[in-house]
Amino acid sequence: MTGRLVGIHLARFASSSPRIGGLFRGVSTAGSNSIFSKQLKSSPSEVPSSRYMNLPLISLTKSYSSAQTTNAVFAPPSSLGVQTEGASKGHCDAVSDVRLDDGGKQLIMSWEGGQSQTFPYVWLRDNCRCSKCFHPVALARLTMAHDLDVDVTVASADKSPEGDDVIIHWDDGHESQFPSDWLAAYRFVDSQRDQILNPKYKLWGADIDLQSFEFGELLEDDRALHDWLAELVIRGIAVVKNTPSEVGQLHRLGGRVAFLRSCNYGPTFQVKSKVDPSNAAYTSGPLALHTDLAYYIRQPGIQMLHCIEQAECTGGENLFSDGFKVALDLKEVDPEAFRLLTTVQFEFFDVGTDHYGKFHQYSRHPTIELDELKEIASITISDHSRDPMLRVPPDQVQPVYRALSKYCKMLVEPQNLLKYKMEKGDITTFNNRRALHGRSAFQVTKASGRHLEGSYLEWDEVNSRLRVLAAELQSK
Ligand code: OGA
Ligand code: ZN
Ligand code: ZN
Repeated sequence: MTGRLVGIHLARFASSSPRIGGLFRGVSTAGSNSIFSKQLKSSPSEVPSSRYMNLPLISLTKSYSSAQTTNAVFAPPSSLGVQTEGASKGHCDAVSDVRLDDGGKQLIMSWEGGQSQTFPYVWLRDNCRCSKCFHPVALARLTMAHDLDVDVTVASADKSPEGDDVIIHWDDGHESQFPSDWLAAYRFVDSQRDQILNPKYKLWGADIDLQSFEFGELLEDDRALHDWLAELVIRGIAVVKNTPSEVGQLHRLGGRVAFLRSCNYGPTFQVKSKVDPSNAAYTSGPLALHTDLAYYIRQPGIQMLHCIEQAECTGGENLFSDGFKVALDLKEVDPEAFRLLTTVQFEFFDVGTDHYGKFHQYSRHPTIELDELKEIASITISDHSRDPMLRVPPDQVQPVYRALSKYCKMLVEPQNLLKYKMEKGDITTFNNRRALHGRSAFQVTKASGRHLEGSYLEWDEVNSRLRVLAAELQSK
């Protein structure tokens, strides 16, 4: 959804852009060819960041060896079933020594592999996994921060006879027991970040090796489902093929993940050329590259567009560009433009009437949003719904426009722009916060219309499903 554009006459956009065809190539079926066995096409396309250096997105290697750690109470951090970096660094060796540093109020653990780590007393006590402190079925902390003795002291600490666990006797009589490899995974320095939240991205351009997945397989096969979702994390775009050409298929596909994300346009929306369009997408005009629902504070994570009927004429191609790749290019060629786009917030609006009645959405976002590590986290662009409000000093206005325009021009440079005319039965699926999308104008005739059904998923649901699938596939 690009934003409301009331009163646009269909004829105004009709066939204003020439056919851009035949440029798409490289759709291959994934099948058993899991993404984990694929190499990057070229290394410069990889996000150059230390945080991406460690492991594949999901390792199917079990890292937790001790009997205790198979208990969900001591599940690995963040991603169930995901190998922790500790395992690869030799932290899973038995404990060789446990020492108390009462002055520093911390415990110092040494592993036989030679590593040692410190664990503050207050953290150990807060994370005690005994059944008084942590519900073993609900997997929830039962103690409360306002009751926590932040100066808590330890009477003694020791390794278990096998050296797998650390046992702590607290001065107040409480006792805690921690598996050493669980502690290693939670060590403070250099601990592994969630691999799904912090993936090794593969950046792409017009020559992307676009992956495709079979609709029927996604409904039946968990491995295919896992690989599709992982592709959405890593490259942020994939095509689903051979979907039945009728409305309702996104509910079926979304149901395999969890549930669809709704919006003012309904749980799913019908993209057709309409007489009274409540959105610019509901015309036959071109759509500039954009991210959907920029005017929402919580913008949808993933978009799905199902081609139910394709215009039998020129135009109507979908356009995609990797916003992360181009943002990194911009950072290199024009750091000041990059800085402006990461700091200046544009505001967005959408006003109209649709599925749930009248609406008035309003939100603000920087074009390029950075995370706490200053890595690119998401992109927001929507010419149709960008509000006139620009809260910068007037002398900053021209530089801000110059930066935005430069980024948008780079997004559509031939090497960056993927053009793909969907076939009946295709669902293009993409990270709405990364892969910008648009379309060329098309012509509606009596004999031929164009009909897409669209909907969204949230990253929370996709990430959760990925972690569960990875754990299940690993245990098979
Ligand atoms: C949309 C959209 C693309 C298309 O509905 O938000 O971008 O191909 N549609 O019609
Ligand atoms: Zn859109
Ligand atoms: Zn306890």
